[in-house]
Amino acid sequence: MLTVENLNVDFTTGGGLLKAVRGVSFSVAPGEILGVVGESGSGKSVTAHTIMRLLPANGDMKADTLTFSGRDVLEFDREELRGYRGREVAMIFQEPGRSFDPIYSIGKSLVETLQAHEPDLSDEEVNARSLRLLEEVHVQNARERLGNFPHQFSGGLLQRIMIAHALAGDPALLIADEPTTALDVTIQAGIIDLLLELRRTRNLAIIFITHNLALISGFADRLLVMYGGLVLEEGPTEQLLSAPRHPYTAGLLQSLVPFGLHHSVEALPVLSGSPPDPLRPEPGCPFAPRCPIVRPRCREGVPAWTSERDGDTSWNHRCVVGGPKSADLFRGGES
Ligand SMILES: Nc1ncnc2c1ncn2[C@@H]1O[C@H](COP(=O)(O)OP(=O)(O)O)[C@@H](O)[C@H]1O
Ligand SMILES: [Mg+2]
Repeated sequence: MLTVENLNVDFTTGGGLLKAVRGVSFSVAPGEILGVVGESGSGKSVTAHTIMRLLPANGDMKADTLTFSGRDVLEFDREELRGYRGREVAMIFQEPGRSFDPIYSIGKSLVETLQAHEPDLSDEEVNARSLRLLEEVHVQNARERLGNFPHQFSGGLLQRIMIAHALAGDPALLIADEPTTALDVTIQAGIIDLLLELRRTRNLAIIFITHNLALISGFADRLLVMYGGLVLEEGPTEQLLSAPRHPYTAGLLQSLVPFGLHHSVEALPVLSGSPPDPLRPEPGCPFAPRCPIVRPRCREGVPAWTSERDGDTSWNHRCVVGGPKSADLFRGGES
């Protein structure tokens, strides 16, 4: 449904050219959940925005392919973009509160969103659909709550209402960019249950972006592990969790604490060092400065893809050293 090949995004900044996304490729099938995981600054949000063709003026994107249902998104004119955004692909963000106008009731803003997608709907139809959307995202007492204002809702309920807005255009793909990061753990779990339900009931495809591998590991069908603007490993979630081949994936896994516990755990024991400076990228593997098994050839250019196969499944990574033992790398300080 969505195909992205060799996506590159540069920003012109006061400090020089910043390479935010470097040669990223992936695809998403109908009803599939793709998890995009990586530390802050790895290029996750920029990738998401390019799918919507939303980039600030200082951004420059190039891709060999960006297609949705066989149509070339890079060639869309204004009118086609209006039909695409919200109606084929919709997006939700980290802080739902900020997306709402405080002087509009929830019902009024939902009506506006619905009318923007379908201007010819009758008032009764629009009102009925607003109510159905609120019910679909499990806001209790939906009929009464349509008259309430954003400040009368908790963060978790506001994120549900954001999801209702995103569903208003009946999209086939939802991009959720850290949608639960600002929420308590139990509220996070509720939002994830809702997204799983929507995948089931609507065959909704979801790109779920997070820095928290624990959150996504029980939920995504496939994972993209991003670092320094590159995808370092990608494949079925099960494979990446059980047999990571890139030391960065292994490091993320080693720093995992069971979902629900992470607030009580202090510093992560592994992955010391800081993320790369995108203005001065390493010539080779961006993870090399932090990697416990780094070799001289890791610094000789961005590592090419290596494919791994286990029965019918295959997955890909960019580690020139990678091997089955990399999951143990960060245990006990020896390798
Ligand atoms: N408008 C912009 N101008 C300059 N640099 C930007 C802009 N937006 C993002 N960046 C940079 O691009 C890189 C990737 O950012 P982003 O995709 O937001 O990371 P994250 O993985 O945390 O979502 C970061 O180094 C960020 O500072
Ligand atoms: Mg981000």
